[in-house]
Amino acid sequence: MHTRIVGVDAVDAIVEVLGEGGPVALPTETVYGLAAPAGDPHAVRRIFEVKGRPADNPLIVHAADAPTAFELVRDVPRYARRLAVAFWPGPLTLVLPSAVDWPWVQADHPTLAVRVPGPAWLRTVLRRSGPLAAPSANRSGGPSPTTAEHCRQDLDGRIPLIVDGGACPGGMESTVVDCTGAEPVILRPGPVTAEDVRRASAAGTEGATPSDAPPTGNHEPSPVASPGTRHPHYRPRARVVLVEDGGAVDCDDCMVIAPHPGPDAAYPRSYRSLEELGHHLYAWLREADALGAATIYVERVPEAGLGVALMNRLRKAAGEE
Ligand code: TXA
Ligand code: MG
Repeated sequence: MHTRIVGVDAVDAIVEVLGEGGPVALPTETVYGLAAPAGDPHAVRRIFEVKGRPADNPLIVHAADAPTAFELVRDVPRYARRLAVAFWPGPLTLVLPSAVDWPWVQADHPTLAVRVPGPAWLRTVLRRSGPLAAPSANRSGGPSPTTAEHCRQDLDGRIPLIVDGGACPGGMESTVVDCTGAEPVILRPGPVTAEDVRRASAAGTEGATPSDAPPTGNHEPSPVASPGTRHPHYRPRARVVLVEDGGAVDCDDCMVIAPHPGPDAAYPRSYRSLEELGHHLYAWLREADALGAATIYVERVPEAGLGVALMNRLRKAAGEE
């Protein structure tokens, strides 16, 4: 199959290919997704095939706006609506009881994950195509793609269309929040931090009525993980090793990712903020493979704010969990 590459302004062409089932690799504000119409079982199964994704890992459904997203789910607690108001369009995914019967998207779970993505052109596409199921557009197990070139490396010849919107501004996947209980529970940390979730979901609770919360009787957030978190993730071919001080690493043939990599690193990659690290991390992991580096040393980051999501991805890349 020939894989065509178009820009984000080619909305008619994008909608047309999606109308034929896709799947289409396209940029969001987080990472590139591999999208197909969520209500079309054949098109969605094709996503699993192309990615080599385990069948038990459900997909996120992307909607044009919050009302459309909330039509797909039910029993939406007030805190989930507050989260949507605070962060949509944006890098936040809400898991809620499904109001649709899309086992091919839900992987037989009773819940559905929904989000409204940031880019305006993509929401235009969503308004015309309807909701799109889209996991990250990498081959399963590898680092998520943050450029069209990454999508091409993984999927060239396997999909009809890649939309090139340049490098994703964020670079890390959305925060996934379970909203089926009395309180929000973070299933996958991401750009919207635990503190962001706590603050936005509590906003305006003064004057709230008990009916705000679903009657689960369970007020202890339980540490349920996203189904997908069981599988290996974010791994390049090179060995990833987490270190305390990237400046002290003595190595040849390696990449060192740290605020101040030492003079011995063959491929030093430095950053000045956690946002900058998040923006570049997956591209650097892929680059290390392209350069033939045997090992990637990454300096651990403090586990606060965006650092929680970064350390979650880094531990998985290092095979520590
Ligand atoms: O930023 C993102 O979230 C990107 C862009 C393309 O939107 N998408 C993405 O999708 O990262 P994916 O499939 O690579 O990761 C989705 C995560 C997985 O961990 C999956 O298990 C979880 O969301 N998930 C999806 N549906 C779920 C559900 N019903 N219940 C619990 N977790 C769910
Ligand atoms: Mg993924």
